[in-house]
Amino acid sequence: MRHFTKPDDEDIRFFRDIAGDKNVISGGDDIEPYSHDETEDYRFAPDVVVKPSDTAQVCAVMKRCFERGIAVTPRGGGTGLSGGALCVFGGVCLSFERMNKILDIDTKNFMATVQPGVVVETLHNEVEALGLFYPPDPASKGSCTLGGNIAECAGGARAMKYGTTKDYVLAVEAVLPDGRPFRAGAKTLKNATGYNLVQLLIGSEGTLAAVTEATVKLIPAPLVRRTLLAPFDSLETAAAALNELFLKRVSPCAVEFMEKEAIKSAERMLERSFPYSDSEALLLIELDGSDADAVNADVEKAGGILLEEGALDALVAEAGHRQNEMWDMRRAVGEAVKKISVYKEEDTVVPRAALPALMRSIKSIADRHGFTAICYGHAGDGNIHANIIKGDMDELRWRRDLPALIADIHRAVVGLDGTISGEHGIGFSQKEFMPIAVSQTALEIMISVKRAFDPKGILNPGKIFPDAPGEGTSHSGGGQ
Ligand code: LAC
Ligand code: ZN
Repeated sequence: MRHFTKPDDEDIRFFRDIAGDKNVISGGDDIEPYSHDETEDYRFAPDVVVKPSDTAQVCAVMKRCFERGIAVTPRGGGTGLSGGALCVFGGVCLSFERMNKILDIDTKNFMATVQPGVVVETLHNEVEALGLFYPPDPASKGSCTLGGNIAECAGGARAMKYGTTKDYVLAVEAVLPDGRPFRAGAKTLKNATGYNLVQLLIGSEGTLAAVTEATVKLIPAPLVRRTLLAPFDSLETAAAALNELFLKRVSPCAVEFMEKEAIKSAERMLERSFPYSDSEALLLIELDGSDADAVNADVEKAGGILLEEGALDALVAEAGHRQNEMWDMRRAVGEAVKKISVYKEEDTVVPRAALPALMRSIKSIADRHGFTAICYGHAGDGNIHANIIKGDMDELRWRRDLPALIADIHRAVVGLDGTISGEHGIGFSQKEFMPIAVSQTALEIMISVKRAFDPKGILNPGKIFPDAPGEGTSHSGGGQ
């Protein structure tokens, strides 16, 4: 196991001097919420939680940790699904919860500058009140933060039409592991000035630098949205039908997929019933735009295509509260499926047209290994979350056989020209599978980049890259 210095009393005094007494937690029950994120049942307690209030404090904490060889793990809202914020070697949890201000909304240039701890939904609400729009909308938008979204390159349902976090961040301020701050990118829509460090940081899971400020692009808010619910009697028919929408040139802003067991678990969790919850699969489709007639015409067209392609019905929700009900249900699915039992979540993504083949593969691989997989996700961009459910399988078999099953799913995904994470990241939970999706040469380049930013390897260690022999973590919990 890799060795990091454990913060001692003097380090803790230093952190208290920098961030203020009440913004440093060095023991007791208050550490517990920082010992996990939303990834399966992993638990790793940090030695200290430090909550800086500005960039200068981040620099001072990082510099100290760099000099002392203390592991530092940045943390946003703690909603991650690949363990990116887990302090797998203990050390310092650098929580950005106090750096939660929207610094500027530039209504002339359609940009917002925010601190990393801003909750995504807060940004949505603030800019939408001004007729502007920040599209990335992960299911956890009510509690995840911009910093965490940048770290993981978060997506969400609307990514299909509008893109993911990477398509909106124009500039960042960040702090290197040795404590030096730097700016990358510019407050411009175009930028061809050297290496694109902004894009390198997006999705780097907090392993290269800690982002302390970001400027994001905004767009005019669409004025009209309509939601369509279409039930199907098989997963593959649903997957094939949605492809027809695109082939016939309908452009929804979201096409979400849920199989029956996912819908049922959301009903159980929310204690509500939803239309067509007995069908084998549901597509939840949203169309938006600025012209009501045009959007309505698209809804008509989409409904017609879906019925032709085997949908059992096409239910339109026009009223805002009906739309919200459907979306509440969809957003609840992730959490609801996890309540079924111990589980392991895979974030598969393939080119959209390969979706029927992906569904077939996931189900047949799970069957072959004797496991149950429940699928839901962002079908419009080929991104399916497959939850492998332990159910009453005995612990020994679960732990022994799960890695081979996951490897088979990942190999199938790569065989369909896809990759092993669309929006949840590799973090801690997927790192051993990296070689399935990323060549040895590409991995070596990534490792060189990591060394260039973080020569001592103190920043978010134990993430993305497979463990070298003898370097693993001794962890508690974990689905595998
Ligand atoms: C969702 C999360 C799990 O799509 O990504 O609900
Ligand atoms: Zn998702």
